Amino acid sequence: MIAARAFAAAVPRAVASALPSFAPSAAAAAASSVRSISMTPRSLSDDLSPLGHDHADQSNTEDHAFDFTDANYRVVERVLGKYPAMYKKSAIIPLLDLAQRQCGNFLPLAAMQKVARLLNVSDIEVYEVATFYTMFNRKRVGKFFIQLCGTTPCMVNGSEDIKAAIEEELGIHSGETTPDGMFTLLEVECLGACVNAPMIQVNDDFFECLTPETTRDLLRHCREKGSLPPLTKWGSKPLNGQDSCEGPLGKTSLATPPPVPKRRTLEAKVDPRTVKDTMMY
Ligand code: FES
Repeated sequence: MIAARAFAAAVPRAVASALPSFAPSAAAAAASSVRSISMTPRSLSDDLSPLGHDHADQSNTEDHAFDFTDANYRVVERVLGKYPAMYKKSAIIPLLDLAQRQCGNFLPLAAMQKVARLLNVSDIEVYEVATFYTMFNRKRVGKFFIQLCGTTPCMVNGSEDIKAAIEEELGIHSGETTPDGMFTLLEVECLGACVNAPMIQVNDDFFECLTPETTRDLLRHCREKGSLPPLTKWGSKPLNGQDSCEGPLGKTSLATPPPVPKRRTLEAKVDPRTVKDTMMY
């Protein structure tokens, strides 16, 4: 910054001495054409995510212990059994997910370190994964963690109205949790259910084809019953009465079993037994 200021101050003087007859106007022009150098403040990954590490949370430090339950140790064994002994670190994601589920949708620092010990890798290798994937919540979230999709298909189908309904019903904004710890709201990018936009994800489940009214009903159901409503047989719940993504006119395609495709007889161009020679391997 100091160098930039010195540069900006020096150039007009140099121009003025080189061009005495045009000195005032040339100096002014040069001064206005000199761009200052600016810097943006450095951001930590924790600052970039609303659910990044909460440094004020004194119950989430290296001094706190975490251990898997006996039942989850059996899951750990099963997970580790899927990978060859020298590739145990492939289990970082499933074990972090297991730890997060055990802690109520929250991944404490101590759990990351426990996973590192179990897999015999350094802490930083686990931190790298936990801070990269947004599915890991390094800050505590409510019992019902609402992820509201605000990407284009949901946005043009009314996600702003859904957001307003949630904010009004719960009294929180994106990145915040209700004082009773029941709900957290986070606006996210496309969750892959655009065909039934607008939609939200609550914990593991998708609620689709929302209106402000059905969204409020859903939130009240969660508050009163303490649980989410059951999904349809396809594993999501469009709240307009659809079963899946059949659309407002019902199922209009693939209503009958499709005809068996005719087989084309392809002329064999390469004998598979000689493919290596053909490809010059
Ligand atoms: S844009 Fe919302 S789910 Fe894809």
